[in-house]
Amino acid sequence: EAAQKNGYETFMEKEIAEQPFVIKETLRSRIEDHILMPELDDLAMEDIHAIYMIACGTAYHASLYAQYLGREWLSIPIQCVPASEFRYGNYPVDEHSLCLFVSQSGETADTLAALKACKKKNAKTIAVCNVLDSSISRIADTTLYTCAGPEIAVASTKAYTTQLTLLACIMLKLAELAKVEVNGYDQLLHDVKALPETIESMLGMEEQMKEYASFLKEQHDAYFIGRQLDYVSVLEGALKLKEISYVHADAYYAGELKHGPIALIEEGTVVIALATQKDVASKTISNIEETIARGANVILIKAKGVHSDKIAHQIEIPDIHPYLACLPATILLQQFALWSAKEKGCNVDQPRNLAKSVTVE
Ligand code: G6P
Repeated sequence: EAAQKNGYETFMEKEIAEQPFVIKETLRSRIEDHILMPELDDLAMEDIHAIYMIACGTAYHASLYAQYLGREWLSIPIQCVPASEFRYGNYPVDEHSLCLFVSQSGETADTLAALKACKKKNAKTIAVCNVLDSSISRIADTTLYTCAGPEIAVASTKAYTTQLTLLACIMLKLAELAKVEVNGYDQLLHDVKALPETIESMLGMEEQMKEYASFLKEQHDAYFIGRQLDYVSVLEGALKLKEISYVHADAYYAGELKHGPIALIEEGTVVIALATQKDVASKTISNIEETIARGANVILIKAKGVHSDKIAHQIEIPDIHPYLACLPATILLQQFALWSAKEKGCNVDQPRNLAKSVTVE
């Protein structure tokens, strides 16, 4: 096992470090001056009336990311639903539906059941999997693969960021097939190509996140807030933290704070806030300042140009298209969870009560 860990203390650390490489692999032969995805060339977007994104856990968060991009670019209704809900809900799926299933293992029972139900209703089905020849990949009409390699740690890291990467490409491809002109397409494509280097540069910020993680030493709770795409990242950041460090962590839309969660903020409460989406950053900053007024200890992950003198702990992600900002932000949140768990002496790779792949309901 020590040999497999390649010098790292835990698989999670090894897998976090592998991200620049596996993102590069996932992008291999996918980008020229447009997205190369021959698997989807025959998809007639004019026949598609609704898109469903279906997944569990971290893969569900990746699906929420794709839903956001789809909503920005396509004029087709798009809805993301956890597979465990979708399979028992009455969704109007038919032959004009495009259903996308995201699953690292390709074996998750709920996702598989939802896929079978959609196939029965003659929907077009696409899977995003990491494991070749998995059950989901065999049943879906088309499978696109992330190239994360084997992920051993229960808490997903590299599988998630490769899912985000591939899903960004898939949504760009769907936009192209739907003949939609994506604003800032060239810049976006450029920044997708540069993701391996961008992510590499994030790995160097570990010491900073390690220090921030120590703020949780005496804390039982942590609150994550963000708006728009930052909300997807805070959901994943909170999940990572609770999974491996057992700190109770919740993620909220920053604008929803005042409708309840702010009642929980007291002297010393740790709030992790994201403001990478410049168009809504000032709104998030004022929500953050409301928590500071109540004694919160805020860590802000932000884009360049976003600023508040009132926030003591700020960390900046590199310049990147806002649609891709969740990738570097996620690396920081992974490190935050990792170091919090290590500090508390938790079993980082095999947290209690959790399984890598949930193959029974
Ligand atoms: C379990 C794992 C998660 C994973 C989820 C979905 O809960 O612990 O890391 O996100 O299952 O798994 P899948 O293989 O379908 O992506």
